[in-house]
Parts: sequence; structure tokens; C-alpha cells
Amino acid sequence: MLIDTHAHVNFIAFKDDGDEVIKMALASDVWMINVGSQYDTSRRAVQYAQKYKQGVYASVALHPFHLKGKKITAQADPNEVIEFETQEEKFDYQKYKELACQLKVVAIGETGLDYYHLDKGEEERQKVLQKESFLGHLQLARELEKPLIVHCREAHTDVLAILKDYTAGKENGLEGTIHSFSGRWSQAEQYLAMGFYLSFNGIITFTRDYDKVIKNMPLERLLIETDCPYLAPVPYRGKRNEPLFVKYVAEKIAETRGVNFEEIAEITTNNAKKLFKI
Ligand code: NI
Repeated sequence: MLIDTHAHVNFIAFKDDGDEVIKMALASDVWMINVGSQYDTSRRAVQYAQKYKQGVYASVALHPFHLKGKKITAQADPNEVIEFETQEEKFDYQKYKELACQLKVVAIGETGLDYYHLDKGEEERQKVLQKESFLGHLQLARELEKPLIVHCREAHTDVLAILKDYTAGKENGLEGTIHSFSGRWSQAEQYLAMGFYLSFNGIITFTRDYDKVIKNMPLERLLIETDCPYLAPVPYRGKRNEPLFVKYVAEKIAETRGVNFEEIAEITTNNAKKLFKI
């Protein structure tokens, strides 16, 4: 079996067939964690998780994108341009805490910092807002003893500094994963030293940029994900991604590490079960 540790079947792209997509994945022994990006999508992730006896879990948080209402254009590669409009929301600790305490919620995320989409002239103010929200999520993760799912784009220096500062001298250190890891090996080493996991998705099927990290890192800290509906792996580039396609990520990791697919499937499944206590 495989566990897609970062899916968004709770997003609008699956509004007509989310349950079918989930059932198809479960029928192929692919489990998933649906990740919220704002209150509505977090709540929908919880609803999906509670509908299924096993194999479907939820993570709740306010993504840095949604601290400000605006049009987002993201380009993963020349084949895929993602466009969507964000809804402005402020991180309400109590509301998210109530949601996070519900059954089947296994993590706090995705939260973190995204410096790729800052508005001109607003950079510093928006960075402050993002950091405040991120710190609120860290506090929630610590209070509820749940792992974090961290989103980080062009902000590894600050994410590392915040995590280090937050965990320094504390008895209950934070656990979590850096989703869709986009850093260098030197940054990977620092996350690993703090006990964090690194997670990879379809991006690694069309770029060699992360081969060094994938080859060097301990397998015991590696997770796989889709980030569906985005970032479909080869051979589905440009199509809607779904949890079932997480197998292409596992295949690519097996190929890069020069080991069997079964070994990657087993260890990443065990890692996900351990980190998310499922
Ligand atoms: Ni995501």
C-alpha cells in the first residue's frame, strides 16, 4: 500500500467526484491525508475523513496564500499554470483548534511561509503577517501534540529560523514534514537534524533538481504525496492529479535510489503511519 500524505480532494476541483476518486484510491490500497488551506477546505477535509472507516485522514490550517485575497498564478513548469483566487482570512486559533480536535485530524497544515507570491511594495508587511500566522499554527500543533505539514516557498531561511527558535530549549519539540520540499541539500540537512520529514510529489518526475536530497537523505524520513489536483506526475502532466498517482512518485524515488518499488512503498507507508499516528 501507499499513503498520499498531501492531497486536496477537499478542493473544488473534485466537487463532482471526490468520493469516487477516494474510493478508487482506497480500492488500490492508497490511503490519503486531505489537507486544508483555509477554514472551509479544512472543514471539508474533516468531513471526508469522517465519512470513511479507514484510509482517509485530515489536516487543518490556514495556508499563507489565504492571508490576503488576490489572484494567484503559480507555474510548476511550462506545461502547467495554476490560477486561482484566494479568500482573505485571519487565523482564528479557537476555531481551528475546535476543528483540529475532531476525529481523524492527524496534523496541522498546510501552514508556513510563501515568499514567491508577495505583492510589490507590500513584501515586508506580508512577511510579518505570514510569520504571525505560522507561529499561531506552531502553538496549536504544540498544544494538541500534532505534527505539522509545512508549506515553504522561497522562504527556507526564515522557516528554519522560526522552527529552530520555537523548538530550542523546549521539552516537547515539534514534529512534522516539509511538504513538496524545494530546498537545497544543506537546508534538507537542517530540517532532518530537527527531526523533520521531507515529502516529495510529482515535481520529481519532471526535474532532477532534488536527486541529491532524495539520494542522500535517510529513507526513514521520506514521505510521498501528490498535492493533487496540482502537479500531476509524468505521464499525466497537465491533467488533474489524484491520490492514485502517488505511485509514480514512489516509482521515481525507487529509481533514483536504485532500490525496489516495494521497499519505498513499505518504508514511506510506515513513516507516514508513525508521524501521523494512523
Ligand atoms: Ni498543498
